[in-house]
Amino acid sequence: MQFRDFKEIDLNAIELIESEVHTYPWTRGNFLDSIKSSHKCFMMKLNNEIIGYAVIMFVLDECHVLNISIKKSMQKKGYGSDLLKEVIRRAGLAHSKTIYLEVRSSNHAAIHLYDKHGFNEMSVRKDYYRAKEGRENAVLMGLVI
Ligand SMILES: CC(C)(COP(=O)(O)OP(=O)(O)OC[C@H]1O[C@@H](n2cnc3c(N)ncnc32)[C@H](O)[C@@H]1OP(=O)(O)O)[C@@H](O)C(=O)NCCC(=O)NCCS
Repeated sequence: MQFRDFKEIDLNAIELIESEVHTYPWTRGNFLDSIKSSHKCFMMKLNNEIIGYAVIMFVLDECHVLNISIKKSMQKKGYGSDLLKEVIRRAGLAHSKTIYLEVRSSNHAAIHLYDKHGFNEMSVRKDYYRAKEGRENAVLMGLVI
């Protein structure tokens, strides 16, 4: 397994994954903005195939996870944990003190993953996300590293 920064040339493959795993996927423009900004955009490759990616942002001594996704057919095999461990490793290298992320309250897979890696629920932003029927809460989670 390899971790590499992703670039515009990788976006066709990444967009395919993004649209299959998210109800409200990031657009190509969202990814391009992140690549052009100071966000760290990296992908996980297995046998030269992109199977996941993450976008993280460093602000002072905080690391914010903006996107973390694993290709549908590769989920529940431990790769999400590998990707999250890489996020935590990079946050440590950047001397972040805390990693923050927001997750839909219905996203049990992701909440379980974060929980397993020591993240704690810090607060709930009510009706934060668009949802199929109305709005949905965001759970703000954090990990002190
Ligand atoms: C969240 C996500 C990255 C997890 O990736 P993954 O490769 O399936 O994760 P892992 O295989 O490493 O599993 C980690 C843990 O979560 C659990 N898990 C995975 N999918 C689950 C599900 N649908 N429901 C409940 N638990 C689940 C696994 O069982 C494992 O826990 P365990 O070791 O106690 O059994 C993946 O589901 C995904 O890409 N989802 C769509 C994008 C998304 O929601 N991103 C997060 C936005 S905040």
